[in-house]
Amino acid sequence: MGNISYTAQLLAARRAVETLKSSSPVRDEFAHLFTAPEVLSRAEESKNEVHVVLMRHVLIEKYFEEKIPQVEQVVMLGAGFDTKYQRYKRCQEIKFIEVDSPEMINYKIEILNKNSLPVPQFVKKRITKKADWEMVLKQCDLNLPTLFVGEGFFMYQTFDFIRDTLKSVVKEFKKDVYWAYDLLEPRIKKTQIHQESIEKLSEKGEIFRSYLTPDESKLIAEMTGYQIDIWDTQRMHHEFFGEAYHGEIHLFVNLLERLNQ
Ligand SMILES: C[S@@+](CC[C@H](N)C(=O)[O-])C[C@H]1O[C@@H](n2cnc3c(N)ncnc32)[C@H](O)[C@@H]1O
Repeated sequence: MGNISYTAQLLAARRAVETLKSSSPVRDEFAHLFTAPEVLSRAEESKNEVHVVLMRHVLIEKYFEEKIPQVEQVVMLGAGFDTKYQRYKRCQEIKFIEVDSPEMINYKIEILNKNSLPVPQFVKKRITKKADWEMVLKQCDLNLPTLFVGEGFFMYQTFDFIRDTLKSVVKEFKKDVYWAYDLLEPRIKKTQIHQESIEKLSEKGEIFRSYLTPDESKLIAEMTGYQIDIWDTQRMHHEFFGEAYHGEIHLFVNLLERLNQ
């Protein structure tokens, strides 16, 4: 599993563990297919705390359910072991593209085939620069209303890449576009994340680059032509548990829309 993303496996493991709890809003019956025993035990260790990545997942899933009847194309950036395509029949009726590194996608296809699960369209590419993004755009139908999802993706990209990507979508897509993606807040010290998992992260790119404040993120979205709704950790925690968040890891989810019709 040399080039298989550790964070993607850990996220699948957290979803697999949550799915077993009847009280949890996380329902991913295929997550367990993509995780390994040692990663699963790491996810189980923290089963009593509500991890921010699970709040992020639930919020993005809710947004996805709301938007999926309105769009005819979905682009999943850094799709990892996300299983929306397999879980929602509507996804199989529209254009659905997953982007991730060739190693990740090949491994995912192997598991999907082994379990007779449907396989979406893929772009096998680690995207880091403008030319890579243009390759993704070539696979898209620019005339379809589209939802982009980047769950745990843009923190691996530079500030310029985030801005240029959002901008290019406004320029190129003719119909409504929606985005759901999250970013890390600067108050998470780099060492906090790195101490936790750096030894496990693959050499290739699983290093976080973008730490933005919600205000900076709002500015980028508005400058590039979107309406934005920001969910920081406090807001998510209040929504799901009715109380303040006292954990140390802070990220925020951005929900964007640009209406063209
Ligand atoms: C934190 S995981 C999130 C996976 C999935 N979205 C989820 O929520 O379970 C990050 C994923 O993004 C992929 N990734 C990271 N940087 C990337 C890049 N530059 N281009 C394409 N995929 C990338 C990794 O391979 C990994 O699958």
